[in-house]
Amino acid sequence: MNRRIKVLLSLTIVTLAVVAGQLFMNAPAVTAAPATTPMYLSPVAMAPNKAGTTIYIVQATANRIDVFDVASEKVTKSIDLGLPLTGLALSQDETKLYVTAAETDGNLRTVDIKTGKITATTRVGHTPMSPVVSPDGKKVYIGNRFGRQGTGVSIGSISVVDLALGKEVKTEHVPREPTAIDISNDGKSLIIANHLPATASDQDYAAAEVTIIDVDGKNDPIKINLPNGAMALRGVEVSPDGKMAAVTHMLARFHLPTTQLERGWMNTNAISLIDVAGKKLINTILLDDVDHGAANPWAIAWTADSQTLCVTHAGTHEISVIDMKALMAKLDKAVAEKKDKEVQNDLSFLVGIRRRLKLAGNGPRSMTIIGNKAYVCEYFTDSMSVLDISPDSRPVAKAIALGPKIAMTPARKGEMFFNDAQLCFQMWQSCATCHPDGRTDGLNWDLMNDGMGNPKSTKSLLLAHRTPPAMITGIRASAEVGVRAGIRFIQFAVRPEEDAQAIDAYLKAMTPIPSPFLVNGELTASAKRGKILFDGVAGCAACHNGKLLTDLEKYDVGTGKESEAKKEFDTPTLVEIWRTAPYLYDGRAVTIVELLKPKYNAKDLHGTTTKLTPKQKADLAEYILSQ
Ligand code: HEC
Ligand code: HEC
Repeated sequence: MNRRIKVLLSLTIVTLAVVAGQLFMNAPAVTAAPATTPMYLSPVAMAPNKAGTTIYIVQATANRIDVFDVASEKVTKSIDLGLPLTGLALSQDETKLYVTAAETDGNLRTVDIKTGKITATTRVGHTPMSPVVSPDGKKVYIGNRFGRQGTGVSIGSISVVDLALGKEVKTEHVPREPTAIDISNDGKSLIIANHLPATASDQDYAAAEVTIIDVDGKNDPIKINLPNGAMALRGVEVSPDGKMAAVTHMLARFHLPTTQLERGWMNTNAISLIDVAGKKLINTILLDDVDHGAANPWAIAWTADSQTLCVTHAGTHEISVIDMKALMAKLDKAVAEKKDKEVQNDLSFLVGIRRRLKLAGNGPRSMTIIGNKAYVCEYFTDSMSVLDISPDSRPVAKAIALGPKIAMTPARKGEMFFNDAQLCFQMWQSCATCHPDGRTDGLNWDLMNDGMGNPKSTKSLLLAHRTPPAMITGIRASAEVGVRAGIRFIQFAVRPEEDAQAIDAYLKAMTPIPSPFLVNGELTASAKRGKILFDGVAGCAACHNGKLLTDLEKYDVGTGKESEAKKEFDTPTLVEIWRTAPYLYDGRAVTIVELLKPKYNAKDLHGTTTKLTPKQKADLAEYILSQ
């Protein structure tokens, strides 16, 4: 759809006759990429109605919601909202949609399904996603992926929106990037998946947590520790019978040198089951096979009888269909034999209990189950796969195009490769496994580029191509070299040069997200004071200068320990530093304020910080966290 048509149709319902009839159905198989950015759909989230006749689909890059008719398997309407949507929920009376978008000053918007008009806008936090409606239909809970709390702490939060009052009535902080939320059947508890670890990464234990919040606020939030290395939590879903919540995540084996991939040596892919009433972890189960990874588990869906649990694998373009009765029996047996602690390492636990089914498209995200059919939307192919998952079926995924096929730009192709575990030996992981959304997993890895036994914190790839050399030691001349080394030495794959070029194009096209430390896009008074210190007495700008706050040079700033003692490191950019904790090459500092303390800069080798007062340090932190 060209821009003019898009504007004309903005906020109105586009009927099938206009969109599907003229564009989709008569569209040639592949249209040439237009000069402007092509309008990919990129479906990321779905919500079915209770009758299972309609599915509402969030088309993230087309800025609209499509209404999919289950009987005819066609998109019958589009509601164009002109916003980079992240999530949606259907109201209990099914007349409204609650939608969220990737906005710095985020809002929950209520959309009337009949008219396609926004009827209410409620201010919430930064990058809201995963809206969930309370069982009584009176409240909506939202995860704000980014945010701040007090001095120098970058944190996620949950907004509670009272629909009758039309406002946010409560904000509850959670450790880091709440990417998925669900609510218990009694409406009393929120189960929240924090995307990344909020811990230092030079410790023995580093893992993201699940937080359970009591919506009445009577009890303190409960922290559920996942096994060591749990990260990249993407989906959480309470079973229809309300007993269990399943959470998808990776289980990184970050203590091992990255010498091989066999048997999940680097990364395994998992679900954790949580007892909702007992508010505790039941166990963590690996989704991989012994010689065949099931990379990047994303969404979860249950059949109505809670007997089958399905997981989408964003990296391998499959779904897992798990027989829960058999799984629970096997878990009970493991408990009886006191072997339940071993389950999280058992790559054959699901043998005979789970089927892996191939999808038709690339990049599955959200999934919904209606009867015995799974509907899975696929991000990179703008498609929906439909599969019969009944136990005795031999499913072949049917592909439904959700829009016209548009030729991919190199950047889009690169994004697809970056998220694709087919670029990895035995499909254990994608680049996005350690670099979720092109950023960092918050863990340390002992990569082979600079020898063994000296783990380094995963770097965000934002601006990597503009800040050579690459890697904290500067051992790779450029990010281009790093990309090719990643394919070869981390993914153990041989790929054509075009694939690496496409990944370069994707990474170069990434743009920083505005910091949650800015107010209306401006530095706060504290950050302004911090800037004066940064440029002045603290001496930071001697090295962190220019637009990207790095002079691209290497220095010994006194941070190297053990085999890295007296090592020179490549000055990192500070752009989007608010998002990429923990800090320093080994992730020892969880916050910037901590990094400025004498403990980490006793001799003033890393700027002059020992003479700064606590208030000055807070100002300095506020400034760099605003970048
Ligand atoms: C097992 C985890 C892991 C995987 C998988 C992984 N990386 Fe990395 N990557 C890292 C770590 C850790 C660093 C930082 C290493 C250092 O500083 O020495 C890094 C650094 C980089 C850098 C340098 C960035 C800079 O600014 O210096 C690039 C480029 C890069 N990775 C690209 C990729 C690509 C492309 C893939 C997929 C082919 C990939 N990585 C897969 C862990 C990983
Ligand atoms: C002599 C050059 C130099 C000066 C001066 C300097 N830095 Fe750095 N900075 C570096 C280098 C090199 C690193 C990488 C060190 C490491 O990872 O252990 C770094 C790392 C950082 C990091 C961590 C980045 C990350 O992603 O982990 C922050 C934050 C930072 N500096 C802020 C500051 C502040 C604030 C000042 C002033 C008080 C300052 N720097 C002064 C060179 C410098």
